[in-house]
Amino acid sequence: MNNAISIQNITKVYDGIRAVDDLSLEVRSGTIFGLLGPNGAGKTTLIKILTTLMRPTSGNAFVEGKSVLTDGASVRGMIGVVPQVNNLDRYLTARENLALHARMHRMRAREYGPRIDELLELTGLTGRQHDFPDTFSGGMQRRLVVARALIHAPRVLFLDEPTTGLDPQSRRAVWAYIQSLRSTMTIFLTTHYMDEADTLCDRIVIMDHGRPLVDGTAAQLKEAFAHSHVYELEFRANADRYEEVLRTFPFIRSLERRGNSFRLELRDEESLKPLMDGIGSKDLKGICLEEPSLEDVFIHLTGKKIRE
Ligand SMILES: Nc1ncnc2c1ncn2[C@@H]1O[C@H](COP(=O)(O)OP(=O)(O)OP(=O)(O)O)[C@@H](O)[C@H]1O
Ligand SMILES: [Mg+2]
Repeated sequence: MNNAISIQNITKVYDGIRAVDDLSLEVRSGTIFGLLGPNGAGKTTLIKILTTLMRPTSGNAFVEGKSVLTDGASVRGMIGVVPQVNNLDRYLTARENLALHARMHRMRAREYGPRIDELLELTGLTGRQHDFPDTFSGGMQRRLVVARALIHAPRVLFLDEPTTGLDPQSRRAVWAYIQSLRSTMTIFLTTHYMDEADTLCDRIVIMDHGRPLVDGTAAQLKEAFAHSHVYELEFRANADRYEEVLRTFPFIRSLERRGNSFRLELRDEESLKPLMDGIGSKDLKGICLEEPSLEDVFIHLTGKKIRE
């Protein structure tokens, strides 16, 4: 089977709010799929529906060919879930948390013992396995939740914001771990981080208001905006005065200042000439066209900045 996940016209309405709005999507087996969107876009709602924690208002979805509506038990047996909020049992040690999960998946001790050893090793938690999760850092707790999701060797792994709140080093550790799973299973992740989607995902969908806005590889999404007009301008002196001047230009869409440099988005290519005429070359140290980041793509589409 080529598609690990098939979402067919899913809608979820919570007292009047359309959290997911007639969304259809297929995710190919063995790929890492990234769902990006601002707060309230509907990402977690969609994951809850796909992992059978919640029923859609209408539509259906299939995981490895099994319907989330009529075959929830089969779906749950094949998936691993890392929820947005860590839900470890604080009265059990790290190892006991993993063992409980294995037993819930009807694994035998003979089978799950070595598997737990292996996952603790891979996530760097072997030395802390007999400690309680409350004594762990955020990054360690997150790694434990990921290890737990993998015990029963799921075919599809759902990760809802796997690295939110982690420091850069822990984020990289989680990324490396996700990358090591590449092509051994299908991974569906949500994130607010552009660099995360860019690094990990084979394909990215940006959604807002319950609907997909764009769909493509990171390179394609950036390519689609390759004709954006974002420039970096650096001045040798008088940056304050130039800032005042720049702020009066109607063709500048957005302006950000960093010391003597400005990052600005022009309305169109034709605006470059009046810009250069307006500021002159006396104090200008350099000007360059910037490659758009996924963040730019996102802002362009949703008009919003991403949290964090
Ligand atoms: N249990 C609920 N009851 C009522 N409304 C809800 C419930 N859960 C989510 N919503 C609403 O549904 C919309 C989508 O929320 P959801 O949590 O799916 O977004 P999200 O994309 O995961 O956001 P975030 O990035 O903040 O995690 C929001 O408007 C939210 O307020
Ligand atoms: Mg969410």
